Amino acid sequence: MVIQSQRDMAGLVKIGKIVGTTLQRMLAEVQPGITTGELDAIGAALLKKEGAHSAPILMYKFPGTTCISINDEAAHGIPGKRVVQVGDLVNIDVSAELDGYYADTAATIAMVPVSGVKQKLATVAKEAMEKGISVATAGNKVNEIGRAMEGIVRGAGFSIIRDLPGHGVGRKLHESPSVPGFYNPRLKDVLKEGMVLTVEPFVSTKAKHIFTEKDGWTLKTPDGSPAAQYEHTVVITKGAPILITQV
Ligand code: CO
Ligand code: CO
Repeated sequence: MVIQSQRDMAGLVKIGKIVGTTLQRMLAEVQPGITTGELDAIGAALLKKEGAHSAPILMYKFPGTTCISINDEAAHGIPGKRVVQVGDLVNIDVSAELDGYYADTAATIAMVPVSGVKQKLATVAKEAMEKGISVATAGNKVNEIGRAMEGIVRGAGFSIIRDLPGHGVGRKLHESPSVPGFYNPRLKDVLKEGMVLTVEPFVSTKAKHIFTEKDGWTLKTPDGSPAAQYEHTVVITKGAPILITQV
């Protein structure tokens, strides 16, 4: 969406803070021994307390409040009986709606002791997101975000998963424009003041694509390589974007 009023901004700020806080609380609770279902219940209770609704349930009837994806699961992992283990790379993605406004945020955390490469994946995904955000300014093309993120990821010797782009957000979970994590010279969209979108690089050691598991939801790398993702919802301005999901 493009923000049209103070009311739009206030609504987005409110849901942004709720999903950002929920993500931080879940990140604080994730540790070896907890199940992904227990972790999801913590997020569900926080959203409920704020009167917010899980966007994946609302929009897609996803079988969980949040998406929790481990190791070679890149996205849309279903919370359940899986126990988080030492050495796991855990991605938590929280998106929710309140009063007709949506926000979306994610982070990846390594369960130490963990392999150096998994830790580096999480670090590089965060750096790529920050670099992408740094060029997300009104007047720049949308594809500059992907160019910046891909540069960081390739420089680290990793791959962007090309099938999973960022997206417009605000009145629905997924809106136009698409915000690829890589440089697509054919994209002509230009960033405008008030535009709301996600910046979310999916980074893998080798994989550039994903496939859907038999459960119909979980998106995995075909070669088993681990994946990491960071995500913020941002509002475009003439200067630095406003990170509505940062708390
Ligand atoms: Co997300
Ligand atoms: Co998203």
